[in-house]
Amino acid sequence: MNKRPIGIFDSGVGGTSIWKEINVLLPNEDSIYLADSKNAPYGEKSKDEIIQLSIKNTELLLAKGCKLIVVACNTATTNAIDYLRGHYNVPFIGIEPAIKPAALQSRSKTVGVLATKGTLSSSLFHSTSENHAQGIRIIEQIGKGLVSLIEEGKINSNTTKELLITYLDPMLAEGIDYLVLGCTHYPYLIPVLEDLLPAHVKIIDSGEAVARQTKAILERNKLITSSKEKGKHQFITNTDVRVLKSFLKNNSSSVKITYQDF
Ligand code: DGL
Repeated sequence: MNKRPIGIFDSGVGGTSIWKEINVLLPNEDSIYLADSKNAPYGEKSKDEIIQLSIKNTELLLAKGCKLIVVACNTATTNAIDYLRGHYNVPFIGIEPAIKPAALQSRSKTVGVLATKGTLSSSLFHSTSENHAQGIRIIEQIGKGLVSLIEEGKINSNTTKELLITYLDPMLAEGIDYLVLGCTHYPYLIPVLEDLLPAHVKIIDSGEAVARQTKAILERNKLITSSKEKGKHQFITNTDVRVLKSFLKNNSSSVKITYQDF
């Protein structure tokens, strides 16, 4: 059982930012990653549609023998993880915007959250904000259009920069000193964001925390691999493999990327 792979899914390439953190912390684990780019962005879909897509991804990963599933997508976590946990008998790790650490460290008591419409409108996001950010002003901003630009590889384009400026300006005017990236695609924007943000504004995402949680849950369930060899990694996309390849170019020796219609 413990040599079975970890399953990871996202609406596209964004969850590779989470896979990279998991691979650093758990280098001997095998993994299977589903990039559902054909259906991206999830953030503009209804809760029901997001649940249906999450079921489809989960069942494919389970059919491939995964022992634990990482929902490497804030939108799918905040809308579908309760359903998944209630219907499938494997541990699920989710990802939510890192409101808590930002709220604890903010001096201006004002924190910006950039996330998809699907995440910001979810009840899980609202209960997390209420529980962990008392006395803190949360300035929410929907990152409409950003996921598609990242999926198209247009990270450094003028369109992306102009869109980010439109999204950041109102948050800066409110006095944020932390910007929470509430979408797993957005860590790929960090170099651009660092250029656009004043130095005192810190960027925070949840990747490392998810990797630590994955390790803890594997240990607690006695699912950690006993293998001493480097893990094998299979990436499956339902669109052009070149997109996923470009996001994994620094890991190309250890990963296999294939197309499958799912
Ligand atoms: N990576 C997904 C997330 O973390 C993107 C959602 C989308 O496809 O809109 O929310």
